[in-house]
Amino acid sequence: MPRVLVRTTGCQMNVHDSEKIENLLLHRGWSRASALEQADLLVINTCSIREKAEHHLYSELGLLREWKAAGAGRVLAVGGCVAQQEGDALLRRFPHLDFVFGTHSLRWVPAMADAARGGSRAARVEQTRSLDRFDWPERHPDFPDATPGRASLTVMEGCDMFCSFCIVPRTRGREISRPADGILAEARALVAGGACELTLLGQTVNAYGRHDRRRRESGRTGGGDPGAAMTIGFADLLHDLARIPGLRRIRYTSPHPSFFDTALVRAHAEIEALCPHVHLPVQSGSDAVLAHMRRRYTRRDFLASVEALRAARPELVLTTDLIVGFPGETDRDFCETLSLVREVGFVDSFSFKYSPRPGTPAAELSDSPAPELAQERLEELQALQREQTLTYHRSRIGQRTEVLVSGPSRRGGLQLSGRDPAHRVVNFEAPNGVVVAPGSLQAVDVVEASPHSLIGSLAGPHRLPTTQIVGGRVRTGRSLP
Ligand code: 5AD
Ligand code: SF4
Repeated sequence: MPRVLVRTTGCQMNVHDSEKIENLLLHRGWSRASALEQADLLVINTCSIREKAEHHLYSELGLLREWKAAGAGRVLAVGGCVAQQEGDALLRRFPHLDFVFGTHSLRWVPAMADAARGGSRAARVEQTRSLDRFDWPERHPDFPDATPGRASLTVMEGCDMFCSFCIVPRTRGREISRPADGILAEARALVAGGACELTLLGQTVNAYGRHDRRRRESGRTGGGDPGAAMTIGFADLLHDLARIPGLRRIRYTSPHPSFFDTALVRAHAEIEALCPHVHLPVQSGSDAVLAHMRRRYTRRDFLASVEALRAARPELVLTTDLIVGFPGETDRDFCETLSLVREVGFVDSFSFKYSPRPGTPAAELSDSPAPELAQERLEELQALQREQTLTYHRSRIGQRTEVLVSGPSRRGGLQLSGRDPAHRVVNFEAPNGVVVAPGSLQAVDVVEASPHSLIGSLAGPHRLPTTQIVGGRVRTGRSLP
């Protein structure tokens, strides 16, 4: 059996795409390699959101020249956003690269791998609007459960927002939503297979179905638009998912601040399984910068959404993405970002220095702050965030929470680790003799706070076992009282 190794960089969409590729290859008779040395095929699934990720790929490809030369018949492939962006230019630049596939061409990977083993080199980066991109074979029995108890599923792909800094609409293509029955069927299958937490994925996930709704409302649903009759509102989708027995936690990522309608806000009050955490990228706190970024909301609009969500779910935790050093960003603009971070009380954030991307409107702007200034701003923002994260973690000391256990803690020792409903990492120790299976939900008392995690102890009394293994998969038992 030929063996494949898939390496992934980038967002959860990419991670999920890699799962799709791996699953597809398992169905076509491949097996998984656990190390590069054993692999007959190496697939690198790439990210091009910032220049750094792209450069990293190029140096990685350089290093792989030796790997490729060391074994006859080894195949090297590049997929994902850099592949979509660069196409066959990658084949020209790296003569040891065998094939390149874009974000809409995952299904061609097995055939391209076969062709490459026969000696051909090719790039497939055409974009499609076909709904069959959402149809995938079921999980292969050998598919590794890297995240026991948790699974992701795609509900929409692509982005039509065209923020001025972002390459995604070019690499992922136009926004398209998946028919609701396919989503619900996949969700049921994932829960039957042992997942109790599902994350709905989409570039602007809460825009789900919006184009179809508009087409339905204007009566333009016929002909070449099969999706229009098959999607429902995003809030309705959440309600339908919440009715699946055994599905204990629902998350979605990443929403766009412009698509929090009343129904979605209400869903946060009404659906208990909907986790009290939303990752809501704001990018900047300055109206001038938001306008240049073409984000289509103001600081005030954003704060109004936050207020509505908090009214619906008071314990809601918000995290965000921020960009500093955007062209034209003044000290005052940056101070507005700092003040927004304080005002919202983000519990965590990913912050980045602006990176110009080819073909985006912002790349044409010339008044970028100096790199040293952008670096200073980044550090100041991150220091503020660290303070806020720790303050929030401290506020949780003394509370009981429910942890979906992922496995041993990265801190080592006997500690286990998992995430609570607010998506915070919780590390905890179980008393001697208590078996805690990955994929189970456990009650944990928070006793300590660190900058990156909550630290707790398993709440007793302990009822054993808390999980069962059914058909080779972990089935979640009830959480401990
Ligand atoms: N430069 C820096 N950060 C970017 N992001 C997207 N495009 C860029 C860029 N050109 C950030 C945004 C987005 C996150 C996924 O990456 O904050 O929300
Ligand atoms: Fe990029 Fe903006 Fe679309 Fe997000 S909403 S993927 S930042 S263009």
